[in-house]
Amino acid sequence: MSHLSRVFQLLRNRQSVRGFEDRPVPPASLARILDCGRYAPSAKEDQPWTFVVVQDPLKRVRLAAEAFHNPLARSAPVLIVACARIHSHVSGHGRPSHPVDVAAGVQSMALAAADMGLAAVWITGYREPGIRQILEIPTDVPIVAILTIGYPDGFSSLPDRRPEEQVVVWENWAKETNW
Ligand SMILES: Cc1cc2nc3c(=O)[nH]c(=O)nc-3n(C[C@H](O)[C@H](O)[C@H](O)COP(=O)(O)O)c2cc1C
Repeated sequence: MSHLSRVFQLLRNRQSVRGFEDRPVPPASLARILDCGRYAPSAKEDQPWTFVVVQDPLKRVRLAAEAFHNPLARSAPVLIVACARIHSHVSGHGRPSHPVDVAAGVQSMALAAADMGLAAVWITGYREPGIRQILEIPTDVPIVAILTIGYPDGFSSLPDRRPEEQVVVWENWAKETNW
């Protein structure tokens, strides 16, 4: 299988999972995942991220409670809490680039995990103050997402995507563009 088709298959067939097996993530795999996050692109190469890696069982239980007891957060052996540095680049369009930059890092880590037979699912449903308190994250540091990582325990069925004609327009924003 060529490099291109392997990446394509990963991108096209990746799926979120319902939960994770009670099985640790090998340290070498976790190191690779974090490395891929570190090498994600960012505006002006600002790299405005800090990835807080949580494996401690007690802390994970407390974090899951702040994520409304999400089964993914409850069962994942590794949680990566992706934080942004807000003093970073403001893009030409006037909006800060840090949420986009951190998102690129999170998705790079998710795909790296999938490539190694692990699964990784984003969570943004959490009480930020609670997460902040548990991990001692300063109040001026936005928590962009939590990435839950582990060995998959049951895949969710691949959800239907909006059809191409609704999502892609060519050359111009079309009047009939359908949100
Ligand atoms: C930014 C973002 C936030 C998400 N937040 C949550 C969440 O809080 N809880 C959850 O169970 N899944 C969450 N997800 C997972 C999505 O529900 C899932 O990716 C989507 O249903 C598509 O399914 P797929 O990943 O299998 O393609 C999130 C995904 C993204 C990209």
